[in-house]
Amino acid sequence: MKLINITSELELYDALEEMPQDVFDLMQKAFDARDNAYAPYSQFNVGAAILLENGEVVIGSNQENASYPSGLCAERTAFFYAGAKYPGVRMKKVAISAKSLKHAVAAPVSPCGACRQVMAEYEVNQEENIELYFMGETGKVLKAKSVKDLLPLIFDRNIL
Ligand code: THU
Repeated sequence: MKLINITSELELYDALEEMPQDVFDLMQKAFDARDNAYAPYSQFNVGAAILLENGEVVIGSNQENASYPSGLCAERTAFFYAGAKYPGVRMKKVAISAKSLKHAVAAPVSPCGACRQVMAEYEVNQEENIELYFMGETGKVLKAKSVKDLLPLIFDRNIL
């Protein structure tokens, strides 16, 4: 038997104002996207904005459904939209922000497991890291340099 240690290094910033201008701007787009969430059930609005290598920004928000599992998270909405509209165009950075209509969200909200798996596949395919920045409505911002830092041991399509 051999022990395997898996470690990730994330960067925690005290405030959005500390981020470089392009990340600050991208997060503003995630804020805007958040306002388009359709989340009458959870009242938890999430927005995601992806900066592509061609300079385009693709946004997404969570879209819920009365049949709960039929809804989709903001991240997957944005990634699938980017994949559908700009196939093969690399994704450079993703900004994610969440806001609850019921309570203040001042801590970074990290993407769910299913979204991590979806984001990981785009990263594997493009053979280049995707930077992730996520936060609540206010407060600290977490940066991951790669989806791999959020989801080690991904199920990689290359095994199929
Ligand atoms: N949600 C996201 O949009 N992204 C995540 O990574 C976590 C959760 C959404 C799904 C649902 O509409 C609401 O937040 C509450 O779970």
